[in-house]
Amino acid sequence: MTETLSTENALARDGADRIEWVRRHSPVLDGYVRDIVSDGSLRGKRVAVVVHLEAKTAFLATVLADAGAEVIAAGSNPRTTDASVVAALRERGMTVVADAGGDYESWERELRAAADCEPDYIIDDGAELTMRTAEHRPDVFARLRGVSEETTTGTARLHAMAAAGKLPFPALTANDARCKHLFDNRYATGQTTLQAMLRLTNRQIAGARIAVVGYGYVGKGLALYARAMGARTFVTEVDPVRALEAHTDGHTVGSRRDIFPQADMIVTATGGMRAISADDIAHLRHDVVMGNAGHHDLEVDTEALGAAASEVFESRPGITSYRVGGRDLHVLAGGALVNIAGGSGHPVEVMDLTFAVQGLGVHHLASSELEPGVHILPKELDDSIAAAKLASYGIGLDELRTDQRDDHTARMEESVA
Ligand SMILES: NC(=O)c1ccc[n+]([C@@H]2O[C@H](COP(=O)([O-])OP(=O)(O)OC[C@H]3O[C@@H](n4cnc5c(N)ncnc54)[C@H](O)[C@@H]3O)[C@@H](O)[C@H]2O)c1
Repeated sequence: MTETLSTENALARDGADRIEWVRRHSPVLDGYVRDIVSDGSLRGKRVAVVVHLEAKTAFLATVLADAGAEVIAAGSNPRTTDASVVAALRERGMTVVADAGGDYESWERELRAAADCEPDYIIDDGAELTMRTAEHRPDVFARLRGVSEETTTGTARLHAMAAAGKLPFPALTANDARCKHLFDNRYATGQTTLQAMLRLTNRQIAGARIAVVGYGYVGKGLALYARAMGARTFVTEVDPVRALEAHTDGHTVGSRRDIFPQADMIVTATGGMRAISADDIAHLRHDVVMGNAGHHDLEVDTEALGAAASEVFESRPGITSYRVGGRDLHVLAGGALVNIAGGSGHPVEVMDLTFAVQGLGVHHLASSELEPGVHILPKELDDSIAAAKLASYGIGLDELRTDQRDDHTARMEESVA
C-alpha cells in the first residue's frame, strides 16, 4: 500500500515537473491570457478540456482552474494520455476522466463520463466530446453554452452540424485563428512529426524520398521541414490549387500511383479517412515507413493492411510491420498521430499560442452574447495574442502612420466615425 502510494506520488511529481516546464516557456498563456481570463467570467463555470492530455493541455487546464472554472479534463485520443500528467492534475483536485494506456472502448467511456459531468463549455479537439454529448446526453448538449474547437477536422464537423440545423450554441473555431493554424499546423506539426518518425525508425532523412499526402497547413510544414533536412520531397493532393502551390514551392507533385512507388516514407495529413487505402497497398515499396499527422487514426488503413498481410509483427517499439507478398510495410504508432502518440507533441512555444487562442476563446464565449452557429475568434483577439508573443521575445512592431494609409480608405473611415 505504502509502495503504491509512493509510486503514485512520484508519478504526480513527475507530471507536476512537466507542467511547470510548460509554464516556464508559455509567457502568453501564463501572463496575458491568465490576466484576461481571471476577470470572473469563468468563475464557477464547468469547462471540459478535451485535448491530447499531456503537459501543455494540463497547463491550460490549470490556468482555467486558477481563474475559477471547474475543469473536467479528458483526452482526445486514447493513445496520447500521459499517466504522470493525469496523476498531477488529480493531486491538484481536478476532475480527470481519462487514464493512460486505454483503448477505444475505454476512451468512449471516458468521453461519456465527461458529458455526464454536464459541462457548460467544451474546449474540444476533433469535436469528439461535442458529438458524443449530442448522442449520449442530448439534455446536456441542449444546455451547452459554447464550444471552442482546436482542429481542422473538428471545424468541418461543426460546420456540418450547423448546416444540418443541429448546433444550438455558439462554437468558436480556434483552428481558424491565424495564431493557431499558421504556427501549430504548419511549423509545430512539421517539426514534431519528422522528429517522431526519425526517432521511432532511427533512419536517415538526408537523401530520403518523403511523400506528403495533403498539402494543407500541416502538409506544407511537413514538406518544408523534410526538405530543409535534406529529403527529396513529393506531394499528392486532390485540390488543384494546393497541388499547384506544392509544385511552385518546389516539391515533386503527382498522383498517388506515381508518387507512392517512389517513397521511402509517406506521411498523411489530409484530415480524412484512408489516405493510404487498400488500393494503394500494391504500389508501396518494400520497407516503406508510413506515419500519420492528421486527426483520424484511420488515415493509414491499417485494417486493410492487416487483411492483406501474411504476417504482422513489431519491428521496433512503435513500428508495426505488415508482410505483404514479400514486402514489409511499416506503420508508426499504430497509425495514430505520430507526433503525439510516438513523440512529445508540439513545441511548448507553439502551444503557448494555440492555447492562448483556446483560453481567450472560452473566455470570449463566456463574456459575450454570441448567436448559435460557427464563429471565428475576433481579429483583435487574434492580433493581441501575436502582439503578446512578440513582446515576450522583446520584438517591437510598427504602426501605420496616417500619411501611409490609402486616402480613400482613410476618408471612408472618417465618414463612418
Ligand atoms: N498532428 C498534429 O499535431 C496536427 C496539428 C494540426 C492539425 N492536425 C490535423 O491535420 C489534418 C490536416 O490539417 P490542415 O490544417 O493541413 O488541413 P487542410 O484542410 O488545410 O489540408 C488538408 C489537405 O488535404 C487534402 N486532401 C484531402 N484528402 C486527400 C486525399 N485523399 N489525398 C490527397 N490530399 C487530400 C485537401 O485537399 C487539403 O489541401 C487535420 O486532420 C488536422 O486536424 C494535426
